[in-house]
Parts: sequence; C-alpha cells; structure tokens
Amino acid sequence: RIAQLYADQEELGGSLVTVGGWVRSIRDMKDVGFVTLNDGSCFKDLQVVMTRSGLANYDEINSQGVGAALVVRGKLALTPDRPQPFELQAEEISVEGTCAPDYPLQKQRQTREFLRTQQHLRARTNLFRAVFRIRSVAAYAIHTFFQSRGFVYVNTPIITTSDAEGAGEMFQVTTLDMNNVPKTDDGKVDYSKDFFGAAAHLTVSGQLQGENFAQSMGDIYTFGPTFRAEDSNTRRHAAEFWMVEPEMAFCDLKGEMDVSEQMLKFVIRTVLDKCPDELNMLNRFVDKGLLARLEHVASSDFARVTYTEAIDILEKAVESGVKFEYPVKWGIDLQTEHERYLCEQHFKRPTFVTDYPAAIKAFYMRMNEDGKTVAAADCLAPGIGEIIGGSQREERYDKLLARIEELGMDEQQYKYYLDLRRYGSTKHAGFGLGFERLVMYLTGVDNIRDVLPHPRTVGNADF
Ligand code: 4AD
Ligand code: MG
Repeated sequence: RIAQLYADQEELGGSLVTVGGWVRSIRDMKDVGFVTLNDGSCFKDLQVVMTRSGLANYDEINSQGVGAALVVRGKLALTPDRPQPFELQAEEISVEGTCAPDYPLQKQRQTREFLRTQQHLRARTNLFRAVFRIRSVAAYAIHTFFQSRGFVYVNTPIITTSDAEGAGEMFQVTTLDMNNVPKTDDGKVDYSKDFFGAAAHLTVSGQLQGENFAQSMGDIYTFGPTFRAEDSNTRRHAAEFWMVEPEMAFCDLKGEMDVSEQMLKFVIRTVLDKCPDELNMLNRFVDKGLLARLEHVASSDFARVTYTEAIDILEKAVESGVKFEYPVKWGIDLQTEHERYLCEQHFKRPTFVTDYPAAIKAFYMRMNEDGKTVAAADCLAPGIGEIIGGSQREERYDKLLARIEELGMDEQQYKYYLDLRRYGSTKHAGFGLGFERLVMYLTGVDNIRDVLPHPRTVGNADF
C-alpha cells in the first residue's frame, strides 16, 4: 500500500516493490512518462516513472484514462531534491482494469450534491475517504470505550413487534399479499396470518430489549442499525441510521450524563489521535473551525441546564431581539433552531438539557417529583442539535403501568417490560447516540447523506 511506502521509505529505498492503485493522471514526455497513482490507503499519491526503453507496454499504459486500475512493480528511488520524497521507477506495469472515458470522477473537485448521485463511486474521492475512515475509527473508539469499562455488547433484534419510542414511526415488515390482505371479522388486517403471527416492524431503538440485559449484567451497550419512517427531509434525519445505546443498572440521570460526556470526549480524542491527515484535510476544505472545536470540546466540560432554565434563556433571547420561527413557551418541543441557539450562541459548547415536560417525551422516562417533568437528558451539539437522547427509566411498576394506561398503549404488548419492574427492579438509565450525527460532528460535514455510505432518506434508497 502507498501509505506503507511513505511510512517505511527509508528502509525501502532502492528495493523492488509492487503496488496496485488507480490512475489520477498520466503525463507523457515522449520517451518518459509520469503516472500518478492513488490506492486510498492515504491521501498522498505515488509518482511512477516509466521509460519507453524500459517498458514493453509503454504505449498501452500511456493510453489509460483517469481511474484505470494498474499494478506496478518497480524500484523505490528516494528523491530528496524533489517535492515528493520518492518515486517508483517502473520495471513492469499491468492493467488490471481499464476505465471507460465517461468516468464521472474525471475532474478533481465535484459538488457533494453531484456525488450523491454517484453513490457507487463517491467513496473514491478524498472527502469520502476521510469521512469513512473517521467513521470506522469512531466505531472502534466506541467499542473500546465501553469494552474497557466492562460493558457487554448486546445485539438487539432488527425485527420487533413493539414500538420502543411509542412514536409510531415504524417501517412494517410483512409477507402478506398486499393485493389480497386477510381481514378479521371487524374488517381489520388479520396479522395473525402474517409471518410472525403479529404485526412486525423494523426496530426504532434497541433500548427495551437492552434493558432486559442491563437487568442481568449491569452495564450493556448496543450498536446497530435502527430505522425510522419519519417524514423529515432535513440534513440530520435518515430512515436508516446507526445507534449506540448503553443501558446501566443502578444508575441515575447524572451517572448517565457523565458516561455520555466521557464517551464523546474519548471518541473525539481517539479520532484526533488516529486521523490527523483526515482531520487536516477536512479542516482545510470542509469546516475551517473543525480542529479547534474538537480540541476544545475534548478538554472542557459540557454545559448542563434544565428544560425550564433553557426556556427561560430562549425567552430572554426573544426579548432581546432574537427571532425564532417557532414561538418559545414552556411545554414546546425544542426545535432545531432553539437547540442550536442554546449550544451555539448561549453556551458555545455541547449542552445537556434535562428534565423535559413528560408530555413531549417517551413513556418509559422516570417521572420527577414535580409530577410534570421527566428525568430526560438530551445532549445538543453545536452545528447539529440533538446528538444524544437519554433518560433515567421509570423503574416503579405502578407509575409505569399508569403511564402506559394514560397513553392508551397496549398493555399486553409491554407485559415483559412491566415484568422487569416486578422482578428485582433497579434504578437504571441509558442513552441513544445517533452515530451519523456524531460522525457529522467529527468531520464538519453538514449533511447526514454524506456520512452514510449508502443513505436511505425520504424518497431515496439507491440500490
Ligand atoms: O432521542 P431518540 O429517539 O432516543 C431513543 O431512541 C432512545 N430509545 C435512546 C435510549 O435512551 N436508549 O434517538 C436517539 C438519537 C438521537 O439523539 C439522534 O442522535 C439519533 O438517535 N436519531 C437519528 N439520527 C438520524 N436520523 C434519524 N431519523 C434519527 N432519529 C434519532
Ligand atoms: Mg430524542
């Protein structure tokens, strides 16, 4: 790989090496030719020099287009007096795959909008190489963080019959014939005839099943795909995204926030440490404040305010002339513009907002003493808004049952969840980190479509 040649250039100088890569440019000076190759192992290119006299298939190589795949065997010659530290003097070059002249990535720079139409090719650009290398390192950092603290990695089901968030934004999974759906006597779809004998969906969150395991092993986490049929065409909503969901027994809301903050800082530090080239590239071309922001966040405390205090701050902002599209009033669900004002203008760093009104949060959150707010904590990140949603869970059987009834939910469906509160119930808490939103934060890329390898959004699921 080209990255290895750069790393070990001193030892490799003068020896024969073989490298496979894709053509970025070819310059022909009649009897000498220069091929610039890249193999994606680093952002640096490899300069290959070939001579007509030294290469039998010189003309064949010379006629290759940008994007062709070549394998070069040659001598690594150190070139201390030139801009690049070494070149490869070709002894043999073979064409692995030619590249058709209509190759869409001929030009060096393409807009991200155009690249979204080229999902099968865009991974070959430096921008996407940087983003997806950071995505990979961030995933590694998340596993390292939890594993080193003794958390057990649990895989929760993708197909489920319960709605974890109670928001009804689920994709249905069925084998019923849509043109001939079986009906019950009262005219409803008869899901007992469906594959699972009940209406099944793609999971919106692994939390409820994660709780089962936390009540067995104490500290667990999930890390997997989740699905939401939200009709939100925004730059931070996807229909298929990955979520990290730790769940901790004998833990309260403060403990949960501490773990979220430590996790985010650990991931940022790991990426700063392992991806300097990627971050420098993104800092130059995508977001000029990226590096300074990540360094700052990794080493300073997050802000923490209650929802009630946050509404106060927003109301004061309105009084002092700040304009919001959505009116601010205790009880509203915070809109992106409000979230961004809080963490970007007011606190200027990641901010936890806690103790939201029960009415705008999920059924499982623990009711506070005031009887109207719940022990929830959303972490808002500058440039993005909500990146983490967490809470302490309602561990008291009577309160949980009353809430399920109050919301008109199907008690039978949540019987197993209620059971946990009857058999050795503990105080417990957890959170869900939107992995793509984290990758947006780590890369400065402002659209979720550009941090997902193959994004699925409203109206869009290309192959
Ligand atoms: O706030 P949410 O809905 O929380 C839950 O699902 C809880 N069950 C988590 C838990 O406590 N175990 O979602 C958690 C996070 C959000 O903060 C956001 O970052 C991300 O998931 N998220 C999305 N990311 C991309 N596209 C979407 N449509 C998303 N919906 C939520
Ligand atoms: Mg949320």
